[in-house]
Amino acid sequence: MLEARKAVRSLPTYHPPLGGREGLRLDFNENTVGCSSAVLAQLRALSLEDLARYPEREPVEVVAAAHLGIGPAELLLTNGVDEAIHVLCETFLEPGDEAIIVVPTFAMYEISVAATGAQVISVPAAKDFVFPTSDLLACLSPRTRMIALANPNNPTGAVAKTEDLIEIARRGPQAALLVDEAYFEFYGHTLLREWRNLPNLFVARTFSKAYGMAGLRIGVLAGNEQHMAMVRKVSSPYNLNAVALKCLPTVLSDCNYVEQYVGQVVAGRQRLQQEYRALGIPFWPSQANFVLAHYGSAKTALVQAMRKRGILVRDRSRDPGCDGCVRITIGTTEHTDLLLTALREALEEIGLKEAITR
Ligand SMILES: Cc1ncc(COP(=O)(O)O)c(C=O)c1O
Repeated sequence: MLEARKAVRSLPTYHPPLGGREGLRLDFNENTVGCSSAVLAQLRALSLEDLARYPEREPVEVVAAAHLGIGPAELLLTNGVDEAIHVLCETFLEPGDEAIIVVPTFAMYEISVAATGAQVISVPAAKDFVFPTSDLLACLSPRTRMIALANPNNPTGAVAKTEDLIEIARRGPQAALLVDEAYFEFYGHTLLREWRNLPNLFVARTFSKAYGMAGLRIGVLAGNEQHMAMVRKVSSPYNLNAVALKCLPTVLSDCNYVEQYVGQVVAGRQRLQQEYRALGIPFWPSQANFVLAHYGSAKTALVQAMRKRGILVRDRSRDPGCDGCVRITIGTTEHTDLLLTALREALEEIGLKEAITR
């Protein structure tokens, strides 16, 4: 048997379900109805020749860059943000370097960092998952070569203040600071273009969440032109497939679709948070398309009772500081109606509603 590299042997395993997700999927922060139907028409118009050719990323990068108001040299289209994280780590980390993350957070930062042989420095979020700016700054050292943060964060929905992120970039100029804005559309604040003042800053965006194209795998990594030239060297020239590249300009030209979807999610988020408030179930106010709540020892019963009603929700108990926590994704208004009805029934079934309201 071959032996994997030492860094790989000790990697944690990320276990997202890769099958058996039938029902209303409120477990993975996806768009619950899919992307603009204009994309389907685009898919139907694909020719065999389109599939025979190697994908041409550059013309689509010009369109994506114009959409974001940045230059094409400041952006790389990636196979989801997952690949953006991976190529950034491959570009900047050597074995023995340090990379800072704030936990709990998205699992792929730790995996991509650790796979390079760099050391992961995990800074726990403060009470109520507040962003730990001063603790993070205290961990900066000359060996810090990367800081990877999700803003809004997953699974908490919490955000870091823009000025704190800028301060971190300033205080760690030797480190690539990745601000992962996968949930930007539900929040509205961005650090896009700030790399023109702070060259060590990178911003990631995805088309997997608000845009409803998780299955096509399209992400963006953006940053300072010279830094992006180095990142490009690491990326495969054919990292995005031809089908995804064909669809992206179409989806970008139908902004109304995303706006109205995001509007429904933001309203649904309010409704779920209001419901939690009324029931006395502790939750953390979210700026993303999901809400994390504390069900304590009832978490497994809740997940099962919801599954029985055809709704998948996610037990996040394994994340640091999240024991007893369940994360529920918000979708369209119709899906929020279904969610709230099922939730009330499920709480009744597991006896939690009486316990809380008594
Ligand atoms: C913070 C964060 N970044 C990135 C991703 C993955 O994005 P993509 O589908 O573009 O790889 C997720 C998915 O859950 C996420 O929560």
